[in-house]
Amino acid sequence: MTRHFLNLSDAGGDAIAAMIADAIDRKAARAGWPKGRADADAPLAGHTLAMIFEKNSTRTRVSFDMAIRQLGGTSIVMDAGGMQLGRGETVADTARVLSGMVDAIMIRTDDHAKIEEMAHYATVPVINGLTDLSHPCQIMADLLTVIESGLALPGSQWAWLGDGNNVLHSIIEAAGLMQFDVRIGVPQGYEPDPRFAVEATARGACITLSRDAVEVASGADVIATDTWISMGQQHAQDKLAAMMPYQVTRDLMAHAKPTAKFLHCLPAHRGEEVVDAVIDGPQSLIWPEAENRLHAQKSVLLWALGRLG
Ligand code: CP
Ligand code: NVA
Repeated sequence: MTRHFLNLSDAGGDAIAAMIADAIDRKAARAGWPKGRADADAPLAGHTLAMIFEKNSTRTRVSFDMAIRQLGGTSIVMDAGGMQLGRGETVADTARVLSGMVDAIMIRTDDHAKIEEMAHYATVPVINGLTDLSHPCQIMADLLTVIESGLALPGSQWAWLGDGNNVLHSIIEAAGLMQFDVRIGVPQGYEPDPRFAVEATARGACITLSRDAVEVASGADVIATDTWISMGQQHAQDKLAAMMPYQVTRDLMAHAKPTAKFLHCLPAHRGEEVVDAVIDGPQSLIWPEAENRLHAQKSVLLWALGRLG
């Protein structure tokens, strides 16, 4: 069966653990090498990944492009506006055409329903490079980063401050699959989609929501946030005002464990969701987190193409 990676639960906890272990091994095996050199085993030699972007991207674009190269394959990167997709060719027809020409498709789109449609019609793996609903590839990198920092995932306490968005949805999903807890601090009207918490709770995670940022941050192992205004959303002053009590400041970090780590998927809006003293501070893991997009995306490609898990 074709392995699509639309959400983390498409892989499941065991496969995610295998992907993270493989990412750690591959990263260590090529330490100090030129970044464009292929891994010694070049496991995806002869394979081509097509990438489609309906929204801007720096990390997802570069990490997947370098990931397929390091695995020995090649890529085709397309902005949707330059494709026939951008002038009305259907997602279904695009999926069927690309399936005959490439080995896997990664798409960043504004509407999760589109990626589901693409997966339905594609006969090669479809990978979610961010939708309005979720960002599973980002969270693969976040899990890798947290584990590398020395924190065991099971039983760890994560705190999310700010908007109840796509990145948070994938963190909640990961909590259920990898057995950690998430406390969510969001203003009224900006809560995450409750379906993710229902599913994670059923898998044994503790997912709680509070309006009190200090309560959310208290005793946390990981403090995470993201932009208050995601791509495609209006830059609304009332939303910014509502988010302000959830800004990650040094005072707020002081309520977390002294060993707590700060995560942000980037791009950051410094002075909005987080202040410089935190994002550039000693607890911040943002640069390894960004680099780990590359290492994590290699594992996602290997899993999707049946080489892992
Ligand atoms: N974090 C992330 O997905 O970054 P890009 O939007 O730059 O791809
Ligand atoms: N929530 C953000 C993530 C960007 C990587 C967005 O969707 O724009």
